[in-house]
Amino acid sequence: TTATITIPVYVHVVSNVNKPEEDISDAQIQSQIAVLNADFQKLNSDASQTPAEFASRVANFNIQFVLARTIRKSSTKTQWGTNDAVKSTKRGGSDPINPETSLNIWVCNIGGGILGYAQFPGGSLATDGVVVGPQYFGSSAVSNNFYLEAPYDKGRTATHEIGHWLNLRHIWGDGGCGVDDFVADTPLAGGPNYRCPGYPTVGCGNNMMTMNYMDYTYDACMYMFTEGQKTRARAVFASGGPRSSFVT
Ligand code: ARG
Ligand code: ZN
Ligand code: CA
Repeated sequence: TTATITIPVYVHVVSNVNKPEEDISDAQIQSQIAVLNADFQKLNSDASQTPAEFASRVANFNIQFVLARTIRKSSTKTQWGTNDAVKSTKRGGSDPINPETSLNIWVCNIGGGILGYAQFPGGSLATDGVVVGPQYFGSSAVSNNFYLEAPYDKGRTATHEIGHWLNLRHIWGDGGCGVDDFVADTPLAGGPNYRCPGYPTVGCGNNMMTMNYMDYTYDACMYMFTEGQKTRARAVFASGGPRSSFVT
């Protein structure tokens, strides 16, 4: 077993002045925090769908998220792209708060069909954190009135992006069958899997772990991290690790 790591979270909602729906409600934000607390503590009910072949690898990261504060801002910008302007007050966005000890999440329309993006550990503190589109942030399981877009309406975009923030690569290692994700217990994959693959889905001579949060499937079709991913992710908080300042 491992000690619980508690991560304060600052959520910056940066909405377009003419799109009040992008200024998502406190309840929608809270529904996302609840998804993170389930997914990173193996409390998500869909974890039970994990095929027997992988069941013993499903991990409880023992990481807990606590909403510290929500920052709301409106902007005339309609799309923010991925150049990190949303993370800077000077550039019309919102500066990160306590990034050496906290996770900052920016909720804004990225555009270009991008659901979210993340900064890996070891980068600049000024841009540390993750960015998620408002219609992908939160869970429709809590309320049908939230501003959410199926099939990415179960909060798994933030789970996936925080996986990157914790140093996890995509399940296919962003390359073909010869490229690994540096995690031994995630089977090889030659590329992303989309939509909602059945089991088994074979590639690279093995059954691929399409239900891993670090693949590209629909929210309802991803529901687990592995023990190997847990070891890699928690190493960032260890003494000498890039996020050791989060743990006192
Ligand atoms: N960075 C990925 C993208 O924008 C996020 C994928 C998240 N997947 C999901 N099922 N929510 O395409
Ligand atoms: Zn990704
Ligand atoms: Ca692997």
